[in-house]
Amino acid sequence: MVTTGGTFVGRQREMAELQAALQEAMAGHGRVVMLVGEPGAGKTRTSEELAALAQQLGAAVLWGRCPE
Ligand SMILES: Nc1ncnc2c1ncn2[C@@H]1O[C@H](COP(=O)(O)OP(=O)(O)O)[C@@H](O)[C@H]1O
Ligand SMILES: [Mg+2]
Repeated sequence: MVTTGGTFVGRQREMAELQAALQEAMAGHGRVVMLVGEPGAGKTRTSEELAALAQQLGAAVLWGRCPE
């Protein structure tokens, strides 16, 4: 699997679900996916892993941030 480069552990179920959504989106069936969890749970990191994979597959990746 393509990753951001650093060690990324676990999250197989989440990544499988996100990758399935990515493949559907790239086939023209986009949808919204939300990652929810406590601060530090790994939402940003998981998003970065998905973004790296999406970029590798040629998808346009747009990244937004929101201050607290
Ligand atoms: N699955 C993971 N494997 C390795 N490190 C992780 C993983 N998930 C999160 N981390 C690390 O834990 C820290 C907090 O994760 P982060 O994605 O910033 O959390 P959140 O966005 O949910 O607040 C970061 O340093 C991140 O790189
Ligand atoms: Mg975050």
